[in-house]
Amino acid sequence: MIKKINIGIIGCSNIANDSIIPAIQKSKYANLIFIGSRNKNKAKQFASKFKCKNFGTYEDVLSSSNVDAVYISTPIGLHEKWVLESAKAKKHVLCEKSSTTSFKSAEKMVHTTQKNNVRLMEGLMFKYHPSHKLIKKFIKKNIGNLFSFYSQYGFPHVPKSDIRYKKKLGGGVFNDAACYPICASRLIFEKEPKEIFTSLQIDKKFQVDTKASVFLKFNEGEIAHGTVGYELEYQNFYSVWGKKGFLKISRAYNIPSNMKPKISITTQHKTFEHFAPLNNHFLEMINNFVQICTNTKIIFNEEKDLLLQALIMEYGRKSAHQNRLLKINYPKILK
Ligand SMILES: NC(=O)c1ccc[n+]([C@@H]2O[C@H](COP(=O)([O-])OP(=O)(O)OC[C@H]3O[C@@H](n4cnc5c(N)ncnc54)[C@H](OP(=O)(O)O)[C@@H]3O)[C@@H](O)[C@H]2O)c1
Repeated sequence: MIKKINIGIIGCSNIANDSIIPAIQKSKYANLIFIGSRNKNKAKQFASKFKCKNFGTYEDVLSSSNVDAVYISTPIGLHEKWVLESAKAKKHVLCEKSSTTSFKSAEKMVHTTQKNNVRLMEGLMFKYHPSHKLIKKFIKKNIGNLFSFYSQYGFPHVPKSDIRYKKKLGGGVFNDAACYPICASRLIFEKEPKEIFTSLQIDKKFQVDTKASVFLKFNEGEIAHGTVGYELEYQNFYSVWGKKGFLKISRAYNIPSNMKPKISITTQHKTFEHFAPLNNHFLEMINNFVQICTNTKIIFNEEKDLLLQALIMEYGRKSAHQNRLLKINYPKILK
């Protein structure tokens, strides 16, 4: 039996509105208890839309003794601030991806949540879609030893007024989207990369990266390549290529709950298709978050995974800055 927890919202973002709050409301294990915004009117509007009794500022959410956990979807550059505030207020935290903008900042977030005896999880919701488990089965059966993972994720139009074009707020497509192929390739290879090379294309006016290419080497003969960007034809897939076959999932990351992603497998010149089941990966993520907060079943060390992801992202930024392939040094606690 999972205990139900009360969740407060830090930031009335698009993603909170479109996906996370509806998922919290669908969950058998979570209550939407408090809406927080910098703007009280916006908080009131959200509260009325989602029939939530309590609303106010972020500080109001954190000072409410009824709130057990918070969902943070501020711009990436402000995640650290609100994770630290939430931890000090003894709230468990589900923090949107990317968790933060540097490894040092991620360490501070994990250290502070652990010190305050609350859990911290990064909101990479795609991981909870059953399609990836299914793909792993197909890899074993039809693809064989993997050579490469390849992925494209990008969007046609991002308004220049969006948080993604604001450098000070942690904008840029690397923080925003490269986290997906990096995380997915780790999930598929079931190991951590040893080396990374990243190339970024920077928008001169806004000084944020708008296109990024990431190369990861997991082992000799095991590589991943992810390309992400804005102002490009919409793309959202990954493929894997192995000794016996090739597999591609038509929709890899943000998968609508009414869509069954198509998995195509080519082996010995023949292609067959399979459709992954319908799933609301936001709801799965919320349920998983509740499980880790209530400690009934620790499936995975979320904090360690957040740190690993943040470390690889950090080496990715460094590699782009130095324009060279970098060996990733894992600290002892992450080995
Ligand atoms: N997992 C996913 O599928 C997914 C998808 C999209 C985005 N995201 C992540 O979710 C977060 C929000 O993305 P979004 O696209 O939903 O952005 P958004 O609509 O612009 O929301 C960001 C929210 O942050 C709050 N905020 C606090 N300080 C701010 C500042 N100085 N400037 C602007 N906003 C500020 C605002 O809420 P108030 O005005 O109410 O304070 C704002 O609504 C990001 O971390 C992003 O990476 C995740």
